[in-house]
Formats: sequence, C-alpha cells, structure tokens
Amino acid sequence: MSAWPYIHNQHVKTIVRSDGCYLYQDDGKRLLDACGGAIVTNIGHGRREVAEVVAESTLNTGYVIPPWLTPERAALVERLTRDWFPPEMSHIHTTCGGSEGNEAAMKIAVQYHAAQGKPEKCKIVGRNVSYHGTTITTLAVGGHESRKTGLKHALQIHPSVEAPYMLRCEASDPTDHYVQQFIDGVEKEDPTTVAALIAEPITGASGGALVPPDDYWERVSAYCKEHDILIISDEVMTGYGRTGTRFGYQHWDFTPDIMVGGKGLAGGYAPITAVGSTDRVADQLASAGFDVMFHTFSAHPAACAAADKVLQILEEEDLVAQVAPKGEILMKQLEGAFSNHPHVGEIRGKGLLQAIELVANRDTLDAYDSHERIGGKVANLALEKGVCFYPGGNGIVKDVLVIGPPYTINEEQIGDIVRTLSEAVDEVTLN
Ligand SMILES: Cc1ncc(COP(=O)(O)O)c(C=O)c1O
Repeated sequence: MSAWPYIHNQHVKTIVRSDGCYLYQDDGKRLLDACGGAIVTNIGHGRREVAEVVAESTLNTGYVIPPWLTPERAALVERLTRDWFPPEMSHIHTTCGGSEGNEAAMKIAVQYHAAQGKPEKCKIVGRNVSYHGTTITTLAVGGHESRKTGLKHALQIHPSVEAPYMLRCEASDPTDHYVQQFIDGVEKEDPTTVAALIAEPITGASGGALVPPDDYWERVSAYCKEHDILIISDEVMTGYGRTGTRFGYQHWDFTPDIMVGGKGLAGGYAPITAVGSTDRVADQLASAGFDVMFHTFSAHPAACAAADKVLQILEEEDLVAQVAPKGEILMKQLEGAFSNHPHVGEIRGKGLLQAIELVANRDTLDAYDSHERIGGKVANLALEKGVCFYPGGNGIVKDVLVIGPPYTINEEQIGDIVRTLSEAVDEVTLN
C-alpha cells in the first residue's frame, strides 16, 4: 500500500470489482461511478473483450522497445488516423499519461520553431484556470494553483492568460474580452517569442466544464495562425467523445496543430495517451532531423491493444453518438433540480462532461470560503449515499462537482446521479 495520503478517503473502502457503471467495495456496497473515476471510463467497466486482447498481447509481444513496430501498435495508429484524428494529423506519438503527452506536445512545438531557425520562439502560453498535468513543466504552464503547493518557487514562469469563465465575466462582450486578453498577453511577450498556446477546448475538472463563448476559438486560432503560434489542444479529458464530438475542438471551426488525448483512449483499461501532430509540424521536425523521444513504456503493446479495442467498441456500439442526447437528459435533470437552488450558481458543460458550481449566495455569486471545503463535503456525502462525483475547481473557480459518467449510462442511472447530488447539496448547504 502506498504511503501517500491520497490512496485513502475515509468515505470509501477497498474497491474489489467494477462492472458497467458501478464500482464494488469489499463490504459489498455498490457505488455508481458518475465521474468515470477521473473522467476516464467511457465504455463502462468490466468488458471482457478488452481483457482478452490485453492477455493475448501480453503473451504475444510482452515488451518491445517503443520505436519498433508490433501488430498492436500498427492497428492502433491505423485506427486513430483513419477514424479519430483529423486527416491532416497523421503523425502519432504515444505516452502513458496525459502529463507526459502534454510534455511531448510542448517539446514538439518548440522543436518545430527551432527547425525553422527560430530558437527564440520558445515560450508556451497557458491559461488560468487549467490543468495540464503534474510534471514540473505541465504544472508550471497550467493554471491549477493548489497543485503547485510547495513547488511554486521551482516552477519556470510561463505567460498566462485568462481562460473563459462566463459565470463571473462582467464584460459586455465576453468573446471580445477573452480574445483580447489572450492577444494582449501574447503581445506583451512579443509574438515572435511565443511557440504555442496550450489549452483545453472546454476546461475540465480544474474549471468544472467551462465552455468558452461562441467565436472564441475561431478568433484565437486566427491570431495564432497569423503569428505562427501553434495551438496544442489538451484533449486529455475531452477526447474520444466525452463532450459529444470525437474531440472537444470540433464544437468550433478550427483545427489544432498538436492534440493530446489520454484518459478515454483506453477507457481506463490501460495507461495510454496519443499525441497527434499535423503533417506541417511533423515535416518540419523531420527536415531538421529532430526526433520525439519516447519513454520506456510508451506505446506498450498491451496498452495499444486495449486502446484499439476500446475505440472499436466506441465505434461499433455507436457510443459517441449517444453522448449528446444523454448529456441533454442529464442537463435537463440538473436544471430541474438546481435551477432555483439558492446555492447553485451555474449548471454547465457539454455532452457527458458537466458540472454544477456551488455558491454561498446565488444573487451576489459570492463563493464559499475555501476553508469550508463545501464541494468536498458534498462529494463525500454523495459517496456515502453511493454515488461518486469529482470535486473540482481551483483558484477563482471554487466548489464545482463534475459529472462524467460512462457513455453507457442509462436514464434511470442519470436519475440516481441527479437525485443523490440534489440530496447531498441540500444536506450540506441548507443546514
Ligand atoms: C485536461 C487534462 N490534461 C492533462 C491531465 C494530466 O493527465 P495525467 O493525470 O494522465 O497525467 C489531466 C488529468 O486530469 C487533464 O484533465
């Protein structure tokens, strides 16, 4: 058992089994997984077909150094480029986790400019709030203050701009405000020194499913194109159908230059993340003889086999097409439960990535004092009642409960999620 404290939560016992949308504790209690763990599980738990291909691959090609081809690797890359990634993004690099994937993406962006003889174009712009991982650089570029505890002094400073947060935006034209904020941030640095913007198209758990205003992405990407600033779309949470489109950026009219998709790639059955680069970017690296270094366990054959099978299941069962309609049912039920709630400031999100934000006062939108840990209390009470939620938010976004169930969730289970959340919110906030 790890000595680190996050293994244990007094409200949950050892999980000994998982099946469909449920986790089972060693005392027999069943937990409805309303957040897919950390917004990971998409095809549901316990799919034997995935276990079978993992076993087969383990026997077939247990470990093979990442740059060598195996049938599992070939099949996954073929499926990703054929069915999932945009056509111009045919270069795929894989890592284990999302943090490593974002590291690789940022390195590719810097190498792209260096390959053109522009080593000064090396700054990566991040946004606040955001989360891109927990390595030294992903923490530094990200806007997740609480995860920088005890590290801040050692983190390199990256330019940071505001991520759209509509609930608290007082500007008369929010799109203008946030686009201008981005442009001003880059101009202050000098665009000729900026390599890339890294951003989640819809801010995940750190902001609680923050959807930007219409036109934001189109205008930001137009500016980036003009200044040859690459857009790294961090789709670690939003990828593979989570928000109703294959990737989050597809809700808007732009294509990123580099895209990182982890979590849902193997639906929680294996640790694997794919980093896609457009041919334009990859060709520059190739022409300069630059490589993207792999990790020992990158593209592990069993993980590739699991990912290929999960994507196949998503395709054959048409699960991504179910995300938007199920998301609408979820949203409608959340609105029914919380639209007039005195302590719910907003209900938001897309597809099966949604959240509610708790506030001390709905009229003034005053947040609760952080020390009250209201979001955590609601999540713990809901756990006791048998449903797992992801308590998110950080910095200026406080007390959000994120919902991201498997795409196989049914209407009755959505009802259980909303009823339990409603009871937990009432018990914590109205007492
Ligand atoms: C948007 C986003 N990017 C990156 C990461 C980091 O991924 P990992 O925890 O797999 O390193 C996460 C994890 O929650 C995430 O939500």
